[in-house]
Order: sequence, then C-alpha cells, then structure tokens
Amino acid sequence: MNIPGSDVYLNGEWLPRGEARVSAFDRGFIFGDGIYEVIPVYNRKPFLMDRHLERMVDNLAKVKIPDPHGGVEGWAKLVQALVDRQAFENQKLYIQITRGAAPRLHSFPDKAEPTVFMFTDEMMILSDERAKEGFKGVTMPDFRWLRGDIKSISLLAAVLGSEHARQHDATELIFIREGIVTEGASSNVLICKDGQLSSPVTDRRILPGVTVSLAEEVAAKVGMPVEHRDIAEGELRAADEVMITSSGKEIVAIVSLDGKPVGDGKSGPAFAKLWDGYREASGVRG
Ligand code: PDD
Repeated sequence: MNIPGSDVYLNGEWLPRGEARVSAFDRGFIFGDGIYEVIPVYNRKPFLMDRHLERMVDNLAKVKIPDPHGGVEGWAKLVQALVDRQAFENQKLYIQITRGAAPRLHSFPDKAEPTVFMFTDEMMILSDERAKEGFKGVTMPDFRWLRGDIKSISLLAAVLGSEHARQHDATELIFIREGIVTEGASSNVLICKDGQLSSPVTDRRILPGVTVSLAEEVAAKVGMPVEHRDIAEGELRAADEVMITSSGKEIVAIVSLDGKPVGDGKSGPAFAKLWDGYREASGVRG
C-alpha cells in the first residue's frame, strides 16, 4: 500500500520505505557495482537537476550500465514524480542504479536488469547565523581509488574518512593525496587567500561537483573568479578561508582544521558572498 509522504521508487514500483526489497545477489550489494546521485530539492523543485542528471547519465556510460530510462528527460519525469509524493518542501533526493542481480562473477553478467532505487529525505536548511559560525574539518591522506570522477556506490573510504571526522567532532574530512588537496569525503573544497578563490583541478582524482559549479558562478558574478589548480597541503593550512560544497551540505565554512583555526577562526567575506548567492539561487533561507 502506498503511504503518501514516504514512498520510495524501486524498479518501477512505488513502495512504503520499509517494503522495498532487492535480491541479496544484487551486484550493488555483492560488489558495490553501481553509481548514485544526490539532488537537493527546494520548494519541491529539484535544484540544478539537469546538471545532476547529465552527470549521472555520464556515470552510467563510464561504468557501462545500460541507462534504464534513456537519458535525462526520462529521469527528470521520475525525479519530479518522486518529489511530488513526499510530505517535505525541501528534500535530499537519492538515486542509485546498480548492474542488477546475477550469479557472483566479477565480470559483467550476460543477463541482468539494472536495479533502480530512489528515495528522498527531508533537507534541513541552516540559519544564516549558524552557517556563519562555521564548522570543524580534519584531514587524512587520500587512500581512495583513482577514479574519483565516478560517483560509485563503493564508498568505504568515504565512510571511514567521515567516521574519522565524526570521532574528531568535525563536519567533514578533507583528503590530501601526496601533498595535494583533492576533495572532502563527500564534498568539494574551495580555499580563499588574499581574496583569490581556488579549487582543485577537476580531473579523475575528484568528482565534478554540481554545487561547486554553482559556487563558481556566484563567485564570478561578485568579481571573485575561482581558479582551478593544484592546492598544496601547506596552502590549505595557510588559507584565510576554507569551504566545502555538496548537494547535502550546501556551502560550509571550515573554521578549524585539525584543531587549528583557519585564518582568524571565523567564517570570512568570501564565504558570506557564496552563502548569500547560494541561498538566493536556491530560493530558500533557514
Ligand atoms: N556527495 N565529492 C564527493 C566525493 C562527493 O561525494 C560529493 C557529493 C561531492 C559534491 O558533489 P555535488 O556538489 O554535486 O553534490 C564531491 C553526495 C552529496 C553524497 O555522497 O551524499
């Protein structure tokens, strides 16, 4: 029975959360063989949906999972249908596609139907006051694989990194690969030094984030264009401001890193501009 306000989507069916079931032989469960996407929804409108769905369709092609909904338009209808079934105005919408259920062999199965699972959670919007207080961050060597551009559901490194952050009372873990900042456990990184915003090079080491792409547009509008370049660990630690961006966390000021203050230990003017621009674009304030 469908209960409005909590339905999830699983392989063509709308189901109450607790009734969604997949095979224990699903390759997502056995191998982590799948990809996912997270889309923020404000006032029931999926935010920057095309960018998210284009990245997701691109990810399906990268891992050679056939697209069960034939491109962005088909997915967009499904996303809106899910949003409309929920009780919340502001949502965090999750889509997962795996290669499907098949006997356990590492190589692709001859026959398998992709599994499509979608749900949304309520999205809490921070107040301006709380956002401006900032949050703690910690760092760790980047021990992940070298295809960070793929939004893989194999998230063990992100899980371990995020738990390390939680153990240190921090909001996000920032990975550093051989002395160069890559990204957060589930976010992109921006720094500001002497008024110049920088973010890591968008190559296979990191996810091309949708939120950071919007932050860049906001920054350009206020005359602070973002440069993409390798950011050395020392530059991260010496930055005036450090920020992380993601669809779930939006834009976060990191005001202490590994227990030491970032800049003067308060969120700064670059964050204030990006935060305001993001809130304006989203149409929602906490
Ligand atoms: N994570 N880098 C990584 C490793 C991520 O997992 C994410 C997002 C980002 C930011 O991407 P975007 O701005 O497009 O959300 C960068 C999602 C939100 C998650 O795993 O829940």
